[in-house]
Amino acid sequence: MNTEKLDCLRQKIRCNLSADRYEHTLGVERAVVFIGERILPHKLYELRVAALLHDITKEMPYADQKHFLATEGVQLTCDDVMSEKTLHQLSGAKMAEKSFSDYITPEIIHAISCHSTGCADMSVFDEILYLADYVEDTRRHESCIALRNRLLDELKKSSAEDYVQVLHKICLESINQTIEHLIQKGGFVHSNSFAARAFLVEKLNNGSRE
Ligand SMILES: [Fe+2]
Ligand SMILES: [Fe+2]
Repeated sequence: MNTEKLDCLRQKIRCNLSADRYEHTLGVERAVVFIGERILPHKLYELRVAALLHDITKEMPYADQKHFLATEGVQLTCDDVMSEKTLHQLSGAKMAEKSFSDYITPEIIHAISCHSTGCADMSVFDEILYLADYVEDTRRHESCIALRNRLLDELKKSSAEDYVQVLHKICLESINQTIEHLIQKGGFVHSNSFAARAFLVEKLNNGSRE
């Protein structure tokens, strides 16, 4: 683990984020380590980098994100445009690739690019970042606290070989809650969230049949 490199990355992102966003980002870093130690222990450095960079453009105005993505030649789908709050996953992935090339790998870029909506064929690495973003310990919303406790409970009562199934299960619950919340308030749900949901349901059903 390159501790100095991570310290340097924290200093760099601190200049780009508000105090609250920086605290959230450090919370996500702690959460990816907590989950990653159990499920992907050989990827802790990459998970930390993904956590530190995941919201790097979250505070950039929407119009500026769109402009940045257009300048970089990134084609947006109708869903990307409709889902304003999740556009930062695409602009963040592109910014990470462009401005933090010493740190990133394709796996990190992919995880950042779907950390907000999820996507079909999510990798375990993607799921860890997605879930860590939802359950990190500075989140105070009751649904986040409840899911954090569910994750802790499920891990406690499971054996190590079942940890990946626990990840799929709690990640699915997180996606369900996000979709339900958006529907309740009449918001737009990105099709990638439905695709992620279908993917995880299938994974869980296959897992339980194995
Ligand atoms: Fe985000
Ligand atoms: Fe976040």
